[in-house]
Amino acid sequence: MRRRSQLRVVANEAVGPYSLIRVERGDIDPGVPGQFFMLEAPGRVLPRPMSLCQAPAGELAFLLEAIGPGTRAIAAVEPGDEIHVFGPLGNGFRLDVEKPLLVGGGIGVAPFPYLSEQLNGPPAILGFRSDWHAEAAALVPNAEVVVEPTLVTELLIEGQDVLACGPEPMLEAVHKIAPKAQLAWEAPMACGYGACYGCSVEVDGVLQRLCVAGPVLEEAA
Ligand code: FES
Repeated sequence: MRRRSQLRVVANEAVGPYSLIRVERGDIDPGVPGQFFMLEAPGRVLPRPMSLCQAPAGELAFLLEAIGPGTRAIAAVEPGDEIHVFGPLGNGFRLDVEKPLLVGGGIGVAPFPYLSEQLNGPPAILGFRSDWHAEAAALVPNAEVVVEPTLVTELLIEGQDVLACGPEPMLEAVHKIAPKAQLAWEAPMACGYGACYGCSVEVDGVLQRLCVAGPVLEEAA
């Protein structure tokens, strides 16, 4: 069940250019991999959506890339600070798959450590724009790593149950090769629970709120 809690930051670790923020779990349910949480830094009004990266005992960990004022404020938290966490929200990955293959790009690898743990360490193909960004691959067991200009789709083979998360062009390319892939999409989200319509995307000609219908969809958005 989703809850909103103020949680104490345990650690803020650099992973390449990304920040791994670990907070005490409190009474928050970690949910299903691919679900997300709204994180609100101290003194900020607008929360930001983050998928859960790791769920060690008693903690929740989020991997984020500081790309704007909201994410920069979250990336600046220090141990002992308190942040608001609301979730789990949305629909995560279906885990009843026979031959899972995780396919991710950039900060899209964020849900994979938790997903990999739940699926007993399946193979993964991860793509990054530089060796520095690729340091995040160390969080995902059994990962094959490619760095641009090589693309993850160059290593995709048929006959796998693909679970993918990453930038839109990557997801569209994965969908062409693996039409049944589960795809975790990203969209700007203001509320996270269906109230603001800020996350609307068109799926098969129908507008859907990604925070409610997704983030994981089995069709191309
Ligand atoms: Fe508000 Fe989806 S984020 S409706």
